[in-house]
This record gives sequence, structure tokens and C-alpha cells, in this order.
Amino acid sequence: MESVQAIKQRFGIIGNTAGLNRAIEKAIQVAPTDISVLVTGESGVGKESIPKIIHQLSHRKHNKYIAVNCGAIPEGTIDSELFGHEKGAFTGATQTRQGYFEVADGGTIFLDEVGELPLTTQVRLLRILENGEFLKVGSSKVQKTNVRIVAATNLNMLEAIEKEKFREDLYYRLSTVDIHLPPLRERQDDIHLLFRKFASDFALKYKMPTVKLTDNAIQLLLKHRWSGNIRQLRNIAEQLSVLEQDRTITADTLRSYLPATANTNLPAIIKTTKSESDFSSEREILYKVLFDMKSDLNDLKKLTMELMKSGNIKDVEKDHEGLIQKIYGGDDDSEDFETAEDSAEVLSIPEHSSSIEDPSGSDKYHFAEEIEEEETLSLHDKELELIKKSLERHNGKRKLAAAELGISERTLYRKIKQFDL
Ligand SMILES: Nc1ncnc2c1ncn2[C@@H]1O[C@H](COP(=O)(O)OP(=O)(O)OP(=O)(O)O)[C@@H](O)[C@H]1O
Ligand SMILES: [Mg+2]
Repeated sequence: MESVQAIKQRFGIIGNTAGLNRAIEKAIQVAPTDISVLVTGESGVGKESIPKIIHQLSHRKHNKYIAVNCGAIPEGTIDSELFGHEKGAFTGATQTRQGYFEVADGGTIFLDEVGELPLTTQVRLLRILENGEFLKVGSSKVQKTNVRIVAATNLNMLEAIEKEKFREDLYYRLSTVDIHLPPLRERQDDIHLLFRKFASDFALKYKMPTVKLTDNAIQLLLKHRWSGNIRQLRNIAEQLSVLEQDRTITADTLRSYLPATANTNLPAIIKTTKSESDFSSEREILYKVLFDMKSDLNDLKKLTMELMKSGNIKDVEKDHEGLIQKIYGGDDDSEDFETAEDSAEVLSIPEHSSSIEDPSGSDKYHFAEEIEEEETLSLHDKELELIKKSLERHNGKRKLAAAELGISERTLYRKIKQFDL
């Protein structure tokens, strides 16, 4: 069984607090079973990683993973999106169409914002959970599917049940195992670490020096309530990285980016003792680098083996276009940096695949995302890109570029030769 640390590296999850580790541990334990899981936690705490971990560590990993945002689908079309429809079931239903539950047969469906499902859809979902049966809209033929369901919500489900917005029986069926992600304010040791990670990602993305916080700014960061959790912290790191000329951020500057009302909210309790997590965080980052290298090496091994077997470069190039792209990256600069930023996400959902193709070739699925392939930027590409950019910034002056990169001129010269720059 993969360790919690290994999973964090693989899925680009930063942090080391007990609540986060427990959540990941639970995901690892439950993954090999078919048990339904409900992921709970405030908005922006990172719930979306959990179903990906569960799917990837399950026997379903070679089948489809479909993420559906239940809150984004209009009530009138949700049943048809999820369960499909027969030709003529309603005006505009010109063809029979499969729903996500049919398409994902053998795989996993992630029902995000499950608390938003209309009550009629909840009844259909309960039936699937109980015996795998469903009916397409406009059909009386019972169909079967074998789908593992992971759901997520940031609502208080017990309150929703009380208000009769959510069926109690469905809630218990969905939450056979409950995985709770704690809010950021309860993960004190992770706040500054996450900020540093995001600041370094955005420095790379926008090709600027990394912003750093003064001690007072760090204290303010730790005290803040972070009602938007990690998403909010990431946004603020991005704004500071883009807008601040002075790369040393003081408490006053940081304060001007934090929402005023939230500042007056209950402050979180700050631990004054320094824990060992600083050290373990650096270690985590090193692990991640090693993990990326190992993954690149495996990809290269696979490619070499294919080449040896086939002996035909063109065929191998064609069959493994995705893998080659992944190892060697594209030509476009901005895309490379975007991938670098996303390298935290081992399972990434490419922007362009925000909808999946209808297998029948007719309509499009508008509300689901299907995970495609793993996309990590290789260490080689990152290094090459950094060297190129630094040389550009210093008009080819090696001495300055070497100083910026923190390497000797001689090493830089060797790299230039090696990468044929
Ligand atoms: N531990 C983490 N390390 C690095 N990035 C994280 C971590 N947790 C969350 N993030 C990032 O924070 C952002 C928000 O996470 P995510 O979309 O999973 O939130 P969520 O819990 O699904 O929120 P919502 O309920 O609003 O949908 C994403 O960009 C995600 O990559
Ligand atoms: Mg979400």
C-alpha cells in the first residue's frame, strides 16, 4: 500500500498536519473497496483530490473517472445528463443518449456538490447505489451499471436533511465512509508552506522573482481566518506575485489584500512553538522532485523498450504521442509554465476537456470532466526552461545568469553544451 507521503507527492498535495494526513490515509484504505465515500469540508480545502486518489488506487483505475458538478447542471436536464435519455423523450431529444452512469460503467463517478441534486434525481441515485439499476429518461427498460460513487459537499448535510432538501436514506448510503478535510485555519503549520509553494509557482509562471513575507506578514497570514481556504490563499499569492513591485511583502501590504470583514472574524489560534514540520516540508519537496524524476525515468524506459521492440521510430512516435509530449514537453513557452504550475496535479484535467464526447457521436456532455492522462513536466524541461529564461533576461551574459541560477559559470557552460542552447 502506498504511504501517505507518497500519495501526497503523486497528487501534489502540500501539507503535513494531522487532519490532512488522516483524510489521505482514509482514502488509501477505502480505495481498493467499492464503498461509497462522502468528502466533506469547507469550500477550497482540496476536496477534489480525494476522489482522484480513490480512483487511481482502485481496481477501476484503467476505466473511466468522470467528475460531475451537480450544482452546475440545470434541474431540467440533470436526469438526462446522469442517466441518459431515449430518442423522443422530450423536445430536442433527437437521438438516444447515454448518461454518465452508463459511460462510466466499470469506473468511478465523482458527484461534486452532491447536496445540490434535486429530490427526484436523488431517488434515481439511491436506486443505483442499492442495486446498480437505472432507467434512461423516457425509457421503461431497466439497465445495470457498475459504478463506484464518491461524492463531495461543502454544505452541512444534516441541516439539508432537516430542511428536507436532501434524503436521509441517500445521505447514509453515500456516506458509508466520510472523509473530512479540515479548514486551512486549523492547519497552521501548512499555511506558510502553501504560500511559499504558490509564490514560487507564480514566480515561475510570471517570470518574476519570488515574493517573500516579513515575519509580521507571516504572523498575519497565520492569524487570518481563510474562509475561502487554500483557493483564497492561492489567489492572494497570485495577486501579490503579479502586482507588488517590492518583492518583500510587509504585513501592511498583505493586509490590503485580505478581505476587511474576514479580518475581524474569530482569529485562529496560533501555535508559538515551531514544529519540526519545516524540516519535513523541505523533505516533502525533495521527495516530490525525486518522485518526478522516477516517473520520467519510467516513461523513458517504456519508450526505449517500445523502440527496441518495434525498431520503427515513426510508429512509436505515432503510438506514444502523449508520452513523448509529456517527457519532452511542447514548444510553446507559456504552456510549459502552465504545466509547471500544474505539476502539483498528477491527475490533471486539461482545460480543453471540460466536456466529454458523447460515445454515440451526437450531443456533447457539458457538465462532466473526464481525467485524461498524467501530465508532469520533467525535471529536464524545467531546468532547461529556467536556464533559457535566465540567459534571455541577462542578454546571454553567462556570469549573471549563473549567479541568478545559483550555479557556477562552469556548470552553466556544461549545461549549455548539454542542452545544446
Ligand atoms: N493541500 C494542497 N496542496 C496544494 N494545493 C491545494 C491543496 N489543497 C487544495 N489545493 C488547491 O486549492 C484549490 C482548491 O481546491 P479544490 O478545488 O479541491 O477545493 P474544494 O474543496 O473542491 O472546494 P469547493 O467546495 O469550493 O469546490 C485548487 O487549486 C487545489 O489545487
Ligand atoms: Mg470542488
